[in-house]
Amino acid sequence: MSTSLVKIKDKEFIIKIASATIQDRVKTLAAQINHDYEGKMPIIVGVLNGAVLFTCDLFKNLNMECELTFLRVSSYHGGLTSSGEVSRVIGLKENIEGRHVLMIEDIVDSGETAMHLFSELQKHNPASLKLATALFKPAALKHNLTPDYVGFEVENDFLVGYGLDYDGLGRNLNDIYVLKP
Ligand code: PRP
Repeated sequence: MSTSLVKIKDKEFIIKIASATIQDRVKTLAAQINHDYEGKMPIIVGVLNGAVLFTCDLFKNLNMECELTFLRVSSYHGGLTSSGEVSRVIGLKENIEGRHVLMIEDIVDSGETAMHLFSELQKHNPASLKLATALFKPAALKHNLTPDYVGFEVENDFLVGYGLDYDGLGRNLNDIYVLKP
């Protein structure tokens, strides 16, 4: 069930993209992916935590032979990212050499995470590497990056729901909400 307004901790959010609209878009993207990857047996790589809902919804609508795995980025002391944090990739036990890899994000904001993961995955010599994201914020992008499959282009607002969180909460909302002005 949808409500037009939700409160998470100290902040109020209003509905931006309804669940039914999201699910319709997921089906359209899945149809494109089914077409583009026919016979290629892709490996779908969801990026935890945010992309888990979109990844599963998309995966359920794929009608070809395909694999599913997840990875996450963990902050640690090592190499710098643009945000000043340091990250490494954990997960991905599968051998992706020579495989068609489709990485799934909930949102591409600055593009830092996607760029970092792309460069890490490229080291394993996949046959192809593409990116699908539920949400894309072109106005926030700081890297030369164009996602291959985009659910919705959004403005540079703070969003929660459908995997996106505010301080760890709100990921389980089926709709996407924007911070109330
Ligand atoms: C979020 C989101 C993307 C990334 C996008 O992850 O899931 O991975 O930020 O931002 P960027 O384009 O500026 O890198 P976050 O690090 O908040 O972790 P989470 O998925 O566990 O919420």
